[in-house]
Amino acid sequence: MWESMNAFDQTAPTTTGPAAGEAVPSAPVSAADTSGGPGLPLLHSGKVRDTYELPDGNLLMVASDRISTFDAVHPTTIHCKGKLLTGLSVFWFEQTSEIVPNHLISFAEDVPDEMRGRGLKVKRLKMLPIECVVRGYLAGSGWADYQATGAVCGIELPPGLTESAELPEPIFTPATKADVGEHDENIDAATAAELVGGQETFDRLRELSIELYEFGRNHARERGIILADTKFEFGIDSDTGEITLGDEVLTPDSSRFWPADEYEPGGPQPSFDKQFVRDWAAGTGWDKSSPAPAIPQDVEMQTRQRYMEAFVRLTGEPPPSWMARASAGAGPAAGC
Ligand SMILES: Nc1ncnc2c1ncn2[C@@H]1O[C@H](COP(=O)(O)OP(=O)(O)O)[C@@H](O)[C@H]1O
Ligand SMILES: [Mg+2]
Repeated sequence: MWESMNAFDQTAPTTTGPAAGEAVPSAPVSAADTSGGPGLPLLHSGKVRDTYELPDGNLLMVASDRISTFDAVHPTTIHCKGKLLTGLSVFWFEQTSEIVPNHLISFAEDVPDEMRGRGLKVKRLKMLPIECVVRGYLAGSGWADYQATGAVCGIELPPGLTESAELPEPIFTPATKADVGEHDENIDAATAAELVGGQETFDRLRELSIELYEFGRNHARERGIILADTKFEFGIDSDTGEITLGDEVLTPDSSRFWPADEYEPGGPQPSFDKQFVRDWAAGTGWDKSSPAPAIPQDVEMQTRQRYMEAFVRLTGEPPPSWMARASAGAGPAAGC
């Protein structure tokens, strides 16, 4: 055990800002829209993260402790979640930089002191308008599609696969970015190629996505976590013209993580992180539409411990060590 959970204080914002369903626009939504933030223009407020514009034109992406299940954000935050997911993304950006360049510039320099650990300075990209989904296992909308058509997004699969079965090889199943309140929609390869501006770009996105997924899957598997599927977002770096990995990477918010020791194909798997919330929510009679209910303290604690466990297993680093690195030069590590 790295340290008592009580060592982490809670400083994350708990309110949700205005939502927008699109990639960060090239100009601030409103220069006056800085409430609750670091005094920088707020460009985009998502379910979990807020994106600000830094004076040099780059972006500051800040992960809150908010949690969503069934696409609805709960009013209760999960202590430390934002810093753990930020540290996890940094870990993967560093580990995969030889596969593809990424948008991470810094987790310390130019990140305001109070945002250290949960904020990243990233290069602003021209985002490509698809979500690059890779599936190694049959779950969620992939399982539904397979049951209905024997294929996932038009990719034929062998007959007789059960729910949560491992696929013969990972498949690339892009989706459109949904507007707020809607679910992402799976699209076929031809539509995706058109959206990203051509077959060549599409082929490269598929190749990179699968390579990144396989890297993450193999790493996680050795540490007792199944990476069932995940979603990447890429953009073009206008300075180099290169396809560049953006957004967050291989976090529980962008992926399905399953505990390997409980894996049993033939039905849905428990989610590594959100299962406690989902199980509890299922028992409350909540109809899964917004607003989501507040999460009881014991469920919040168990969920928090799961995020800690995923972080430690995957990165091998105790959370306080990550927070100290992120806070270097900004006074003592602030905890959560
Ligand atoms: N480097 C980047 N440059 C520009 N936009 C980015 C970059 N990285 C991620 N984005 C975009 O920032 C937004 C982040 O939104 P997010 O916090 O995930 O909220 P949501 O997806 O719920 O709207 C997404 O639209 C994503 O495509
Ligand atoms: Mg997003």
